[in-house]
Formats: sequence, structure tokens, C-alpha cells
Amino acid sequence: MTYQGLLHKYGHLLDLPPHAYERTVSLLEGDTPLIKAEALSSQLGRGFELFIKYEGLNPTGSFKDRGMTAAVSEALGRGATTVICASTGNTAASAAAYAARAGMKSIVLIPQGKVAVGKLAGAIAYGAQVIQIDGSFDDALTMVIEITNKHPICLVNSINPYRIEGQKTSAFEICDVLDSAPDWLCLPVGNAGNITSYWAGLTQYNKIKSTGLSQILGVQAMGAAPLVLGHPVDNPETVATAIRIGKPARGEQALQAAEESNGRIIAVTDEQILDMQKTLATLEGIWVEPASATGLAGLAHEIASGRLNAKGKRVVAICTGHGLKDPDIITKDMQKPLVVPPKLEALEEVILG
Ligand code: F0G
Repeated sequence: MTYQGLLHKYGHLLDLPPHAYERTVSLLEGDTPLIKAEALSSQLGRGFELFIKYEGLNPTGSFKDRGMTAAVSEALGRGATTVICASTGNTAASAAAYAARAGMKSIVLIPQGKVAVGKLAGAIAYGAQVIQIDGSFDDALTMVIEITNKHPICLVNSINPYRIEGQKTSAFEICDVLDSAPDWLCLPVGNAGNITSYWAGLTQYNKIKSTGLSQILGVQAMGAAPLVLGHPVDNPETVATAIRIGKPARGEQALQAAEESNGRIIAVTDEQILDMQKTLATLEGIWVEPASATGLAGLAHEIASGRLNAKGKRVVAICTGHGLKDPDIITKDMQKPLVVPPKLEALEEVILG
């Protein structure tokens, strides 16, 4: 049977009101590949199985589409005409695309100058009203909460419970492919919606299909690590702009997921994040945006420091967004490619020395 999107495939497992299914808004999101990463696992420590859940292959280039098909379908079904979100970029692009498909208006608030170009371009291309805030993501989130309390505009940040419901589907897919939950699941943590969704999805699937549970390793960037520090960060800073968040909306639930799963939340440096981004691209051919390499950077850190023994284990790393979202991070420091005249000898000289 041809694939018809997440609400069609997993809708019966999602806690959505009936009106969410009246006119499903889908771009055939989900069904992303789980790619075995043998070269990387050997480099990290050998003797364990590592899989990359490549969420950058969703329609707008990030995992946000899983939650957005649910949230926008629900909004449309109850007659909403406008959606709004605060975003570090990916939620904005996703909300804009799904709103466009639903014939709705979208408004996105982003922190000024801190959104990667591929995300901003996406939001504009899909026709969103893009508003920059002279402040952080956390300021923008406060503003969208306030405005939706006052006006009939639908909030599609992950505070919206239907976003969480939609994002549970990635855990279902992983368990369906592996036939059980992995031993460890590592992922980046920003506003903490995704870690909440994975834990909800894993526990639900375990109840109905006895797939077992994973230990969750949530990873923040060192300069934006409120859940590791135990308090909000006023001026979060990291090269991984997607997770440049100082006051995660679902922070409590993230800590609970880590604890209940017998896992933990840790932080890694920007250098570790960029190193992992490069390693993943050059060793496995998987290019992800910096935030998306953060879960793997955390895994590498834990294995290297002896705190996580992966031997004989199955590990899944969630790579949340595509590398094309943030090309500047690569091009800003790169050496300009060599220019040669259009002559065979010139090419031979360069290639063969
Ligand atoms: N990875 C990427 C690529 C993201 O864009 C985000 C969040 C995360 C990880 C963290 O997920 O917030 O559920 O813990 N991006 C949001 C946005 C904040 O606005 O696009 P989280």
C-alpha cells in the first residue's frame, strides 16, 4: 500500500481529537531511514551497533514535520485560520509549510540574526509572516504564549500537546524496524519537546507491543545547558543555533524522561558538536546541521570517558535536521575550491600531482 503519512499510519495510537482526521494535512512526513553506521561505531568503540535515524529527510528537512502534521490537522479541523510559533528556525519552516498546505496563515517569531539561512529561507518560501525579535528564543516563546492567550491564533510550538503526539511516531518507527527498542537512544535537547515525545512513544509501544525501553541520553550544548546546570540560562550561546535555548518549556518532562529511562542529560562543547558533524559527514556520508550532531557528540563523549559501556548494545542516534539547513557553518571557514583552466593537463596535474 502506498504511504499516506503519519496520521494515516499511526493515527490510532495518537491521542488526537476526531476533528484532527477530518482533513488531514500531510506532506507524507515520517518513514525516515534508520541507517546503520558501522564506520562511526568502530571509531567510537567497536563491538556495538549504531543506527542513525535520519530525521533531516522529512519534507521540510527536520523532525518537526511529525508534530506539525498532527498540530496543523487539529487546528484546521476545529476551524483555526492562523498558526503561530516561536522558533530557532526548523519549527518555523515546518509550521509555514503545513499552514500553506492547509490554506492557513502562519506567523513565526525568530531570534534576530540567530537563525540558519536554510531555515529562514524555508519559512519565507512557504509564505510565513516572519518577525524577528530583538531577543532570544525564550523571549519569543513568552510572546507567542501571551498573544495566543489573547487572540484566536493557534500555537504550534511543542507546548501544543498534539505536537508531542505526532513526534511519538519516530519511536514507533524505530521499534518497528528493529523489532524492539534500542538499548540506548541519544538525541539533542533544546526546548525538550522531542525527548518528551520519544519517551512517551517508547513507553506506549512497550505497553502494547512489549518492545522494551531504551535508556535515553539527552544532550545539550554547553553554552545552553539549563537542564544540566539545574537553572535557566539567561544568555544561551552555541554554534548549534537550533538548540540555543535557556528555558526549555518541557524541561521538567525531559528530566523525568532521563530519570525514568535510567539515562541522563549531559552537555558537550561546540567543538565536540562540530567535530561530530564533520566525522558523520566524512565517515558515513550523512550531513546534518550542528544541533543534530549533538546527540552523537554526547554518545562519543560518554563512551570515551567510560561512563557509557556500549559493548554488545544497540544504540540509535536521532539526527534531527539536514545539513543543508545551515550551509554557512561549513562555507564560512572553508578554503575556496581550487580553480584550474579547462585543460586536461591542468586537471591531471592537480589530481595526480
Ligand atoms: N534538533 C533540531 C535540528 C532542532 O531544530 C531542535 C529544536 C532540536 C534538535 C531540539 O528539539 O526543542 O524538541 O528539544 N528546534 C526548535 C525550533 C526549538 O524552533 O525549531 P526540542
